[in-house]
Amino acid sequence: MSTLLEVENITLRFGGVTAINDVSFSVEDHELFAIIGPNGAGKTSIFNTISQVYRPQEGDIRFEGSSIMGTRPDHVAEMGIARTFQNIELFPQMTVIDNLLTGRHIRMKGSVFSGALWWGKAKREEMENRRKVEDIIDFLEIEQWRKYPVALLPYGIQKRVELGRALAMDPKILLLDEPVAGMNLEETEDMARFILDIKRELDIAMVMVEHDMGLVMDIADRVMVLDFGQRIALGTPDEVQKNPDVIAAYLGSEFA
Ligand SMILES: Nc1ncnc2c1ncn2[C@@H]1O[C@H](COP(=O)(O)OP(=O)(O)O)[C@@H](O)[C@H]1O
Ligand SMILES: [Mg+2]
Repeated sequence: MSTLLEVENITLRFGGVTAINDVSFSVEDHELFAIIGPNGAGKTSIFNTISQVYRPQEGDIRFEGSSIMGTRPDHVAEMGIARTFQNIELFPQMTVIDNLLTGRHIRMKGSVFSGALWWGKAKREEMENRRKVEDIIDFLEIEQWRKYPVALLPYGIQKRVELGRALAMDPKILLLDEPVAGMNLEETEDMARFILDIKRELDIAMVMVEHDMGLVMDIADRVMVLDFGQRIALGTPDEVQKNPDVIAAYLGSEFA
């Protein structure tokens, strides 16, 4: 096992609000790492610092051993850090296939060549992109929706399409922000199955922010608990559930 992502002593402030207070954790290759905590604990802010949408005032974030601080968010994505959003961010009028293709296009390199040589290469690349997208559509079992505009799909399927778009980027690590929020039981079970399939079959590391304690405790390798921007616990699901600080802070009733 080697370390893929290292978040070291990051602090992020918005004016007087300290959204993240001196938080450290690391994610290993193949790991499914969960972050839990109440609303406003700083979970989404951590994803935004990793994506470099927000710049923490203190600390360092390293990916595959190199600091990514100051990297443009689109470059962070190209390096292999893909994400899904708490509120779905797809192109609602575009089809499932076209939304997934936008995930491929982030990886296409611009070329200074023109003429037949370039067109040949571009055409091959586009065919390869379409083949990859169809593989992901099969993997996520959304064949029947592939030509529908995303806006027409049930919510649970839209969340799955967003996961597909992140997968289309060929990521080394996936950041999932509340992947089952707002889902019914059946949709939640489906999503849990796909997350486990990604781990087992595609071997992609994941960081999952979640409110659904049951899901986290069932599928995560390790869990970090945040409260008011601070890390109050980090360990296996068993360790975290038994941690007196966690129980005292707010989880007591859920695990009692
Ligand atoms: N862009 C922003 N501007 C000002 N405050 C923000 C911004 N983003 C997040 N915050 C604040 O940071 C804290 C953590 O928010 P967030 O990371 O969204 O929490 P969570 O995802 O755990 O619910 C909250 O107090 C929130 O209001
Ligand atoms: Mg959030």
